[in-house]
Amino acid sequence: MRDKFGRPVTGLRISVTEECNLNCFYCHREGCSAGSRQMSAGEIGKIVQLAKEFGMRKVKLTGGEPLLRKDIIEIVTAVTAAGMDEVSMTTNGTLLAKIAAELADAGLNRINISLDTLDETTYKRITGRKLLHEVFEGIDAALAAGLAPVKLNMVLLAGINKHEVERMIAYASKRGIILQLIELLEVGGKNFTIYHCDLDDVEQSLRERAVAVRTRRSMQARRKYILPGGEVEVVKPMHNSEFCAHCTRLRLIPDGHLKPCLMRNDNLVDLLTHISTGDLEGARKAFAEAIARREPYFKGALREVRVSRSV
Ligand code: 5AD
Repeated sequence: MRDKFGRPVTGLRISVTEECNLNCFYCHREGCSAGSRQMSAGEIGKIVQLAKEFGMRKVKLTGGEPLLRKDIIEIVTAVTAAGMDEVSMTTNGTLLAKIAAELADAGLNRINISLDTLDETTYKRITGRKLLHEVFEGIDAALAAGLAPVKLNMVLLAGINKHEVERMIAYASKRGIILQLIELLEVGGKNFTIYHCDLDDVEQSLRERAVAVRTRRSMQARRKYILPGGEVEVVKPMHNSEFCAHCTRLRLIPDGHLKPCLMRNDNLVDLLTHISTGDLEGARKAFAEAIARREPYFKGALREVRVSRSV
């Protein structure tokens, strides 16, 4: 189904808990605040089945830290049972080593692991915890479990980790991992001016070395640089109307509200009430309403092109 800006909605990004065992100072927490309800594995499964009716084909499980959910294997099983084209997860990797193989067995296709630095002191400075070694073990376990491609999310922070880009490219390339370099998003009224850096110079250097450059249309028009030894993607959301113009995802937050945009909290739609009472028609209406409320946050020249089509 398309929204009223003509954007197809093909992915559901489900935050399964707002809890996290790290405390990254810049974290947008997927735009969630603590709610009083939490979706069960069964409810998540039902929601994904409905999402499929609306044409959604990809599910990403996020948090907080999704591996803090004791029933995460049940959740992955319920989601994959709905028959999605792709089920992936974004995790901080600290709890991954023990469970990577089980996640793969439950049907998880691939994984994104947040890693901003290879340095223990810098890791502690960013996350508040000394768990870098655990993340390295988690990465190795994900590779061994075949959760491919493994991707690393590196948020670039001026004065903290920007100088580590080359080292990170080497670390990822050596292991057949795709590195995603992510521009810091300023959210929740926080002012990150001192940490924000634009990625233009990094991108320029990638362009000079790349054997091929691709634009991933359905993925917010992000660019992918194929280097002689590896692959790097660049994600630049800030004030980027191209980014929003190619957004294809709807979000679901842990208390069961659909969230049309990461950057806004004023247009949520309650879904869980309908799911938990077995009101399927109400649930379908909630999906349709959330899609209708989708609007590019950074608009640029983009205008409303048509009203949403029925399913
Ligand atoms: N800016 C950009 N990316 C962020 N993430 C979290 N907070 C921010 C932010 N302020 C992303 C990171 C992390 C994932 C869970 O969310 O990529 O890996």
